[in-house]
Amino acid sequence: MIITSDNLQDTDKIGKIIGENLKSGTVICLEGDLGAGKTTLTQSIAKGLMIDDYVTSPTFTIIKEYSGRLNLYHMDAYRLDSEDDMYDLGYDEYINSDGVCIIEWASKIKGLIPKTAINIRISIDFENDKRYMNIDGKGEQFDIIKEELGKVFSLRGHI
Ligand SMILES: Nc1ncnc2c1ncn2[C@@H]1O[C@H](COP(=O)(O)OP(=O)(O)O)[C@@H](O)[C@H]1O
Ligand SMILES: [Mg+2]
Repeated sequence: MIITSDNLQDTDKIGKIIGENLKSGTVICLEGDLGAGKTTLTQSIAKGLMIDDYVTSPTFTIIKEYSGRLNLYHMDAYRLDSEDDMYDLGYDEYINSDGVCIIEWASKIKGLIPKTAINIRISIDFENDKRYMNIDGKGEQFDIIKEELGKVFSLRGHI
């Protein structure tokens, strides 16, 4: 499904709805160019998880932890050279924890992503200053998010 975010308020709403409906153990993969809005969306997902701390980009630390209704492990694979590097940072424990993992540039560690992950690809429409959020996944968690987002936003299928 594809949701259009016309502005920061929309992205904030989308993130909060996702965060409010996340279950323990969920993995969310975020793709999109630099500046697409991956970290911005994560900040709003964190609000939905009732995380009070300000979420900042994990580009340089690779993994940051926050606690809220569920723990959030916010990762950025951009600077990693290999999947092994992610493993060395304790990835296995995070992914198998009862928290939630959000991974920016997850395609860099494709082999380590569980099949049940929710994938969100953000693209920028520069001309109209909008973001398109292409959200995909399998299983119950995806169905719940789709249903809840559908109550507020109009959902389009794949282009
Ligand atoms: N609709 C929108 N959704 C998300 N970000 C937006 C939107 N409109 C403008 N922006 C801006 O785009 C930038 C996105 O940056 P960031 O979230 O750090 O991107 P990324 O993590 O993908 O590199 C921010 O400066 C944000 O304010
Ligand atoms: Mg980022």
